[in-house]
Amino acid sequence: MGAVYVIGIAKETKMKNAKLHPDTLAIHAGHRPADHQGAVKPPIHATSTFVFPTAEEGAAHMEAAYGVEGAVAPDSGYIYSRLGNPTRTAAEERLAALDGADVSAFFSSGMAAISTALLAWSGPDRAVWYAPPLYGGTTHFLNEVLPVKGTPVEVLDVAPGGADLVSALEAKRLATGTLPGIIFLETPANPTMQVVRISTAADWARMHSTPEHRILVFVDNTYLGPLMQRPLEVGADLVLYSATKYIGGHSDLIAGAASGAADIMEAVVGFRHFLGGMADPWTSWLLARSMETLPIRFERQQATAKSILDFLRAHPAVGTVRSAHAEDLSPDAALAMAEQSSGAGSMLAFEVDGGREAAFKVLNAFNVFSLAVSLGSTESLAEHPASMTHAGVPADQKIQYGITEGLIRLSIGLEHPGDLIADLDAALAVLRSTSSPYFSSSKGHEETGILV
Ligand SMILES: Cc1ncc(COP(=O)(O)O)c(C=O)c1O
Repeated sequence: MGAVYVIGIAKETKMKNAKLHPDTLAIHAGHRPADHQGAVKPPIHATSTFVFPTAEEGAAHMEAAYGVEGAVAPDSGYIYSRLGNPTRTAAEERLAALDGADVSAFFSSGMAAISTALLAWSGPDRAVWYAPPLYGGTTHFLNEVLPVKGTPVEVLDVAPGGADLVSALEAKRLATGTLPGIIFLETPANPTMQVVRISTAADWARMHSTPEHRILVFVDNTYLGPLMQRPLEVGADLVLYSATKYIGGHSDLIAGAASGAADIMEAVVGFRHFLGGMADPWTSWLLARSMETLPIRFERQQATAKSILDFLRAHPAVGTVRSAHAEDLSPDAALAMAEQSSGAGSMLAFEVDGGREAAFKVLNAFNVFSLAVSLGSTESLAEHPASMTHAGVPADQKIQYGITEGLIRLSIGLEHPGDLIADLDAALAVLRSTSSPYFSSSKGHEETGILV
């Protein structure tokens, strides 16, 4: 397949870059100036197709791409930009270096990455078992699309008040009399910040895998991103992203990504060839450019989030505060975060008394925070999960997951922390001036975190 040389290049880069720090890899991995007339930045290869040096080489490429028996792909070269494009390869090598993966692949959206990977590895005898809550689009694809195509999908009982992950996996094994092909996790979860311990799922998967039936662990790592959390290092088989978020980081593109070992990624990239959901050259270039500042963006966004959390925890109008910072996690969830993450990121959520009416008053009073869904960008965003990102979640599940009417989600950007805190202070003051009962005197602090 055309994936062969993508895999070859990424492997070679990983070996060369093994000793460099992530901040350095974010800037240099994937680009060799000598290959581009010394250009310090990678060019954008805005081309749909590539000229073959000879008919023989063209035939070898195409026959190998279609899996013709005995065909051997030439070591280098490109055929057609759906299969491979040098700008995309540069971005993919950079992400592979950051994720510690053999291979990364960029897609046209996070949902393209997630659906392609699931289609590649699920099937009637490869069920998907998932730990809720997941991103709404993923939940919809799992519950409404995959079963129609014959893949059994099961929900693990790990919502707050449910079982720990191993008990939930064992209960499902006993109830169904089967094993999954994929365990799908998203950690920290959106918007409740519940944490799943990735190594627990990976250990269980390994224990129950056989050579004929390998159980794979997929992790949606959108909420923390490639540097703060490296799921492959703690046993995950495939990492998935909405690259629209931290990897892109500027709210100016839609993209997705998958990273993993060569044998896992070969099927994913093979499916991408035929489903056609790859990132285009311009988006790929933007992604490679954005990854250069990922470490510094993340550091600053996380530090600002910490200051905002301190402010919110002390504010009389704010009830429960949710984040992946240790202060807001149960001891088990905090231990899991310490094992699998090097930071807690810059996503948070908080409750105001007074339900939707109070939450909307606060949201409508923001001046610096932008009222929008999405996350991980330079500008700070605020939204109301119950009626916006999670509007499609059934009411009983909203209650179970803690997606209350008074919950506001924030994505912290790169503005000055003082301006963000002043904006929050002014917005929360609206509750005092218009509806004093919302200024709660019984301030609560509740730990979150699925038991792991
Ligand atoms: C955790 C998570 N995964 C996946 C997606 C889907 O990504 P995209 O919108 O890029 O398709 C999102 C989008 O918000 C998300 O938050």
